[in-house]
Amino acid sequence: MEFLNNLKKPGIVVFTILAGIIILASCEKYSFRVETVDPVDSVHFKTVIQPLLDNKCTNCHGGSREPDLRSAYSYESLTTGGYVTLPADKSKLYTKVISSGHASFTLPEEKLRILYWISQGAKNNK
Ligand code: HEC
Repeated sequence: MEFLNNLKKPGIVVFTILAGIIILASCEKYSFRVETVDPVDSVHFKTVIQPLLDNKCTNCHGGSREPDLRSAYSYESLTTGGYVTLPADKSKLYTKVISSGHASFTLPEEKLRILYWISQGAKNNK
């Protein structure tokens, strides 16, 4: 019995750690739902979206990979490439930004800004 109990203990520790990770991960999903960005406020391309692309995307999407997200090319690249279509949550840009390979590149509020910018018509505004 003593032997069995000792065997079970590490199992419980591992279970507790896994449960903790799962709970934390689900919290992150909820924090994504928190409205940190007002959907009614216009999200402007040049002053909000482009700086985000410059900070988070152009080191990889700097000309050699589609879409080209450098400021001189990004708007053209996103629109002609069909990345910003309605409904916004189904667009190639937004679904990529929240996909497992790309999700870590942006903060939850940045993902929301991209979503709202697309849903507001993906305008090339200041
Ligand atoms: C570490 C490098 C890296 C960074 C940073 C990065 N990407 Fe990507 N991106 C890739 C690679 C590699 C692919 C192609 C493979 C794939 O689809 O995941 C890609 C593909 C894409 C695609 C799909 C292209 C297509 O034609 O299907 C989009 C849209 C995209 N990225 C947008 C972004 C945006 C927006 C950001 C910034 C928030 C970003 N990426 C940051 C490496 C990166």
